Amino acid sequence: MIPVYARITGTGRGLPEKILTNKDLEEIVDTTDEWIRARTGIERRHIAADNETNLDFCEQAARNAMQAAGVGPKDIDMVIVGTTTPDQVFPNMGCLLQRRLGIHGCPAFSLEAACTGFIYALDIANKYIRSGSAKCALIVGGETLSRMTDWNDRGTCVLFGDGAGAVVLEASDEAGILSTHLHADGQYADLLYFPSGVSKKPEDFYARRDFIHMKGSEVFKVAVTKLGEIVLEALKANNMPAEKLDWLVPHQANLRIIEATARKLKMPMQRVILTIQDHGNTSTASVPMALDVVVRDGRIQRGQTVLLEAFGGGFTWGAALLRY
Ligand code: UT7
Repeated sequence: MIPVYARITGTGRGLPEKILTNKDLEEIVDTTDEWIRARTGIERRHIAADNETNLDFCEQAARNAMQAAGVGPKDIDMVIVGTTTPDQVFPNMGCLLQRRLGIHGCPAFSLEAACTGFIYALDIANKYIRSGSAKCALIVGGETLSRMTDWNDRGTCVLFGDGAGAVVLEASDEAGILSTHLHADGQYADLLYFPSGVSKKPEDFYARRDFIHMKGSEVFKVAVTKLGEIVLEALKANNMPAEKLDWLVPHQANLRIIEATARKLKMPMQRVILTIQDHGNTSTASVPMALDVVVRDGRIQRGQTVLLEAFGGGFTWGAALLRY
């Protein structure tokens, strides 16, 4: 029997037009362009306008990915949106996106795994396709982190940006996604979190004064360790030496974390995709947006091997090794 693989057939991204530079941030908090560049690698980020929402960027990303894949609404048989900033609690973002795109009847849901949400969604869709339960999945990672950022806190507000990335994943006889690897450890829940929910309502929730909390340097250390481990785990599972890897598409949280992961793989930075300078940290949107950038500028060629990885609140972390 010919094995059924899941293969990325189209990518897309959707970004707000409004750009906030490091210089702009110097007017808002006590920071400098030099500090932000040196400590994070970020130069600018896109920020949603008041009348824009996460769903707008998800729709734009999805339309671009579907166009690139040459598929229409009737072809899609599964929709998953990774996000921690949904437009509303329910209907879920998958259903809201279905309505925008005219997709009817197939399963649609959102999932919340912070910055690793897109990799979690990719893992699920890959398994659905490989088991024969789906043929053409639309997977989106979208965030408007600016809506949960404390714009008085220089430790976090300089980091985040808004946007969405999407891929179409289709059944194929050719690989395809080679393996996916997911992990989580809730013992780190207090290092990076947004406290309010619907069931748990801190007083501040009603005053709309709840924000992302992060113990940056502690998150940094665990991120470097876990990402270093997971990239090696993905290679080992495929008996692939690091030299055979063509591209690393990492989560774009901090240039220094990305460099540490590249060192672990002994990969020159020319083979590491960087969008952090332009997008900042867009959480679960960062990997699919970075992938779309290099697919569209022609750097990633069909048949090349690509390693995706991400790390975020939870903590959650994950990787996917694929032949593009
Ligand atoms: O995407 C999900 C996962 N998230 C991450 O992976 C993020 C991981 N963490 C990081 O990327 C880094 O820890 C940060 C970029 C958040 C911070 O960098 P750092 O090198 O760990 O800085 P720090 O928090 O240890 O702060 C160093 C100094 C402090 O001043 P003192 O106490 O040494 O006087 C901070 O107050 O830098 C100060 N500082 C700033 N200075 C200018 C913190 N933020 C700023 C700022 N501008 N924006």
